[in-house]
Amino acid sequence: MKVYRDPSSLIKKVREIKKQGYKIGLVPTMGFLHEGHMSLVRKARKDTDCVIVSIFVNPAQFGPGEDFKKYPRALKKDLVLCEKEGVDIIFAPESKKMYPRGYSTYVNVEKITDTLCGASRPGHFRGVSTVVAKFFNIITPDIAYFGRKDAQQAIVIKRMAEDLNMGVEIKVMPIVREKDGLAMSSRNVYLNRRERSEAQCIYKSLKSAKKLFNSGERDSKKIINKIKRVINSQPDTKIDYAAIVGTKDLRDIKKISGEALIAVAVKIGKTRLIDNIVLK
Ligand code: PAF
Repeated sequence: MKVYRDPSSLIKKVREIKKQGYKIGLVPTMGFLHEGHMSLVRKARKDTDCVIVSIFVNPAQFGPGEDFKKYPRALKKDLVLCEKEGVDIIFAPESKKMYPRGYSTYVNVEKITDTLCGASRPGHFRGVSTVVAKFFNIITPDIAYFGRKDAQQAIVIKRMAEDLNMGVEIKVMPIVREKDGLAMSSRNVYLNRRERSEAQCIYKSLKSAKKLFNSGERDSKKIINKIKRVINSQPDTKIDYAAIVGTKDLRDIKKISGEALIAVAVKIGKTRLIDNIVLK
């Protein structure tokens, strides 16, 4: 496993790999890897010949006052985990190599970035789509892997790849959960013991929503109210949003008929967590 820190040297390496006819799988991450990330790596290992993991805490996707500085970082440990899973290449660039002085180009996916996390984190998806577009240009992967926990992110990246003819297949993999149901996230480490225990209410609320749906309820308002009641039963929670939306256009659905995404964002203390399920 080799670590590249400079985009131009990786571009050269990728050209060699492609000449040999190898299929490249990319797993973009911000590091502090957990089982959710590793499930993407394993899938990439199965599907492709050369697995590249990018590890980069992307400043462009954090707003002022967000957790860019304190975002957890553990490069050494990440490298050990990747080596164990047979990753071929790590791309861990320095910020000034990705955004050198004078940097001025951004990718903006419209409409579907106006709602949910896009509404509460202005500029977030502009930062995400820009850095992912840069990774796609540097690495030219055949397949790129994303987790469904960041459902809106996956939809935005799919849209971007299609709209800009990037020629990369986007695979979205299932959410990996802790034993008590909490979706795995690098940010879970921010939670103290009480908050960690309260955080169970997020998945519980989604499960009770699904139960209601399975018993025949199709009125989104009623299902959302149920979700809100479960989450608000915990003292340190503050709901950012709880929404039922279309799985492709992310527009609010009043009466559920086809497929629908239930997405929630909750602040527990100072930590903002997201989760979702798909109703079919
Ligand atoms: O999901 C993440 O970790 C990040 O948003 C991503 C896709 C690596 C872009 O920085």
